Amino acid sequence: MSKRIDVKDLNVYYGNFLAVEGVNINIEAKSVTAFIGPSGCGKSTFLRTLNRMHEVLPGARVEGEVLLDGDNLYGPGVDPVTVRTQVGMVFQRPNPFPTMSIRDNVLAGVKLNNKKISKGEADALVEKSLRGANLWNEVKDRLEKPGSGLSGGQQQRLCIARAIAVEPQVILMDEPCSALDPISTLAVEDLINELKDQYTVVIVTHNMQQAARVSDRTAFFNIAGTGKPGKLIEFADTTTIFNNPAQKATEDYVSGRFG
Ligand SMILES: Nc1ncnc2c1ncn2[C@@H]1O[C@H](COP(=O)(O)OP(=O)(O)OP(=O)(O)O)[C@@H](O)[C@H]1O
Ligand SMILES: [Mg+2]
Repeated sequence: MSKRIDVKDLNVYYGNFLAVEGVNINIEAKSVTAFIGPSGCGKSTFLRTLNRMHEVLPGARVEGEVLLDGDNLYGPGVDPVTVRTQVGMVFQRPNPFPTMSIRDNVLAGVKLNNKKISKGEADALVEKSLRGANLWNEVKDRLEKPGSGLSGGQQQRLCIARAIAVEPQVILMDEPCSALDPISTLAVEDLINELKDQYTVVIVTHNMQQAARVSDRTAFFNIAGTGKPGKLIEFADTTTIFNNPAQKATEDYVSGRFG
């Protein structure tokens, strides 16, 4: 299952600091959307508002709406824990639980949600999630070994399996390949390509080639200066952003003439 996200007039604060201002964006279901832009422009901050991970920091808050298939994630009575099961997240550094087995790592999110499942159901879910993350063949004979014994690329795919296991509708990825070698990066990119048949995927990346390779649409964020809020400058098909952007700032950024 895959859902669309519509963001309306979103402002994102850390205490009094307005970090991201006035974002309006429509993210299609079953597609890959890339967020690009210079360091500090608020890509991670904005990404975290899409599954209510932003507000776990003291003083952090948002104004505006984030609609998941029309339902406001910030509406009254909406449980942020439920939101995070619908909108999963994969972080920059692979963060498997190091002492936990590969199998238990895959199930960690499911157990966190207090879901009771039988051993048989758990086995099936582990296999399905690891297959979905393109990792099954590499780990099927070592499921009880610790997750920390995997290579960086395998660990990142394990984290993707953990995200998939809770059956989210959307998967957010914050620079998921920045700690990976080129081969592992391609493995994760292949996987992202497959995931979009089933999920809505949003990926933050500093790698222009990666954005061009994996995404259908690209959002360019920018910041006018230190202390100023980040803003969404341009959002369009990835080919348009890279070949024929409407804004000069976008063109300067994607062509490397930035700063
Ligand atoms: N926990 C926090 N408390 C206060 N300010 C923060 C916090 N996290 C980020 N910021 C500020 O919010 C702004 C946006 O940061 P953010 O991490 O979202 O940028 P980014 O675009 O993801 O950058 P990068 O490409 O380096 O990851 C920055 O000015 C940053 O200093
Ligand atoms: Mg970031």
